[in-house]
Amino acid sequence: MQLFTSSVGRKVLMAITGQFMVLFVIVHMLGNSSIFIPGGINAYAEHLHALPPLVWAFRLVMLVAAGIHILFGIQLSLENRAANPDTYAVKNYKKATMGSLSMLYTGLLLLSFIIYHLLHFTIRATPDIKLGVDSLGRFDVFGMVTNSFSHGIIAFIYIAAMVVLFLHLSHGIQSFFQTMGWNNDKSLPVFSKIGMIAAVVLLLGYATIPFVIVTGILKG
Ligand code: HEM
Repeated sequence: MQLFTSSVGRKVLMAITGQFMVLFVIVHMLGNSSIFIPGGINAYAEHLHALPPLVWAFRLVMLVAAGIHILFGIQLSLENRAANPDTYAVKNYKKATMGSLSMLYTGLLLLSFIIYHLLHFTIRATPDIKLGVDSLGRFDVFGMVTNSFSHGIIAFIYIAAMVVLFLHLSHGIQSFFQTMGWNNDKSLPVFSKIGMIAAVVLLLGYATIPFVIVTGILKG
């Protein structure tokens, strides 16, 4: 199979890079949950940054995966659109086009969120960022995150972005199984359910953090 040139090859690459990013969002959500353990997120961040070459190797792999996913995602949905003009009579084709278009829009919104998020908590370049150290001399990720999410607008942006992530993944995870050809009439509903459950868990796991902070349930 010509991975980079054939339409099926590009779909498979999109599915694999997509699943790779799903793994990342699962691990990142579990890591972020350490915010509920006193001192937890500061210790987690310190461990994470303990081996810079590993951090940079991981970032490079993520960048390549995201690049492939975004590039082919845009390309495939534009090709789909050109192949299925609005007047197309067959309902299923229209449905498929709608699906890929909404994946394109939610994907582009997620990309904007990720750029903002990197500027926010990784590069720490936005005006709300509070830099400091905790009582053990570690960088105070807890203070930074709670300070940012105490601003209603920032908490709202994050919660809205998590809804977009949910929309993208509830379709995307199920598509993965379809693209890999692992589905049949019996397994398709099961894979749809797995995709939906994973997307809901991620939505709740992530959105809870800005929610409990902006509502004052978790105090900085
Ligand atoms: C409530 C939601 C989220 C919170 C509180 C959060 C928190 C954080 C924090 C604190 C960092 C910086 C870690 C450090 O440098 O010590 C970070 C980095 C990052 N986050 Fe998130 N995050 C959230 C959602 C997401 C989502 C949904 C994605 C992906 C779609 C994401 C992708 C990333 C990436 C790619 C990095 C950079 C990792 C690196 O340093 O290479 N985050 N996040």
